[in-house]
Amino acid sequence: MRVENRTIFEGDNLHILRDLDTDTVDLIYLDPPFNSNRTFEAPIASEAAGAAFKDSWVLSDLNKVLHGELAERDPTLYYAISAAEFSHGKSMKAYLIMMGIRMLEMYRILKPTGTIYLHCDDNASHYLKMMMDGIFGRENFRNEIVWQRAATSKGNLKKGLARDSDLILRYSKSNDFVWNPEAVTIPYDMADLDEKTKRQYYYVDPDTGRLVSHTSITAQTQDPDSHLTYEVMGVVRTWRWAEARMLKEIEAGRVVQTSPGNVPRYKRYLDEQKGKMLNNIWVDIPNLTARSKERIGYPTQKPLALLERIIRASSNPGDIVLDPFCGCATTCVAAECLHRRWIGIDLSPKSFKLVKLRLEQRDIVERVIHRKGNPKLYQQDQTYKHTIFGLQDGRCNGCQILFPFSSMTVDYIVAKSEGGAETLDNLQLLCSGCKLMKGSGTQEQLIQKLEDEGILK
Ligand SMILES: C[S@@+](CC[C@H](N)C(=O)[O-])C[C@H]1O[C@@H](n2cnc3c(N)ncnc32)[C@H](O)[C@@H]1O
Repeated sequence: MRVENRTIFEGDNLHILRDLDTDTVDLIYLDPPFNSNRTFEAPIASEAAGAAFKDSWVLSDLNKVLHGELAERDPTLYYAISAAEFSHGKSMKAYLIMMGIRMLEMYRILKPTGTIYLHCDDNASHYLKMMMDGIFGRENFRNEIVWQRAATSKGNLKKGLARDSDLILRYSKSNDFVWNPEAVTIPYDMADLDEKTKRQYYYVDPDTGRLVSHTSITAQTQDPDSHLTYEVMGVVRTWRWAEARMLKEIEAGRVVQTSPGNVPRYKRYLDEQKGKMLNNIWVDIPNLTARSKERIGYPTQKPLALLERIIRASSNPGDIVLDPFCGCATTCVAAECLHRRWIGIDLSPKSFKLVKLRLEQRDIVERVIHRKGNPKLYQQDQTYKHTIFGLQDGRCNGCQILFPFSSMTVDYIVAKSEGGAETLDNLQLLCSGCKLMKGSGTQEQLIQKLEDEGILK
């Protein structure tokens, strides 16, 4: 499906993602529900009033067909996800199936040079990373960004440390991806310099009060015959620059000799430097508070500065940015301000209204397109087998052991010859062992045999 720039889709992102063309999106940022077992609501008096979303998951919520579909499309992933059920519980499995089936689509629509940022927290980040390794490939994992939401914590912390960070997993689709290092270079904070910078820039320029370092201008290799060997301030050396350049720098007051006879050095001012490169721990973008100007009250609204950094780092002007869980459309606003094309998707009808409002607040009057999600049923090409696989949670209905989708067969609980109907309540999936064991017998006989053999307790 061709999608125009500045489109907000209202609906379940699964259907919309399925309709988007393969290899077409440059950057995906997603901030899905985190499986926090909470319900989020916007404050009544806020611009986002009426926005709410649920973040608790149970297997019965999920369209059962998705189990079978995931198990068929990516059996290894389905098994990895099923493992989360043992260590965490059914809700995590349900959450990961919901995410996994969508992530397969996101992988498909991302360009080969594209990047995805998955925002999550420690509820599910470890399971999501396993899922992402499976879909994008371990070799395409780029970073786990720790975003510190608040520097200090309130509340009762008698039992441990506050959990004040989110995690953002960055994966590329291949080894050839967009990366703009200047986007993660931040100016030096003069009031709070780190130790390394303080050691480097420890002189204070007597004329200006600026911090300065004295860096070497002698050449690495000494060559007495070179035109670079000449006298500066009474010192003969092989210099890095020819004499004309040296004179220019001396005239500009940039060459200093700390005392007579010392080797002259170059004055490098700290405030003229590009800044310092960030690492994967981002502590300089505070989360929005009730008083933040940009806050419009949408639950879990993220700061624009966070999205601007991500978009600058992993896309170029004109690129297509997609946020499939866009909420109040922070990603879309940031993308617009940075001259990227964008698509937002959310279940909430508020997203369209809020992106328009937020763009107008910035005097941006571009037309935003509002499309309701495609109501088409996506199960068209699915069979009973997918549904039953989900209803049975991927287990054989005889021995109750987990089996790959492809190893299970549809079986009539009451045989067709005995009047059994082809309806969901009379169909089951059996592994090949149980199918053989059942033969032409009844379900009760199968269960009895499995108990007799100690397979079923
Ligand atoms: C954590 S919020 C995103 C907040 C957003 N980053 C912002 O700054 O406003 C998650 C969003 O996902 C949406 N959502 C949940 N399930 C969805 C689905 N299946 N399809 C589309 N949107 C969904 C919710 O309505 C909610 O707005």
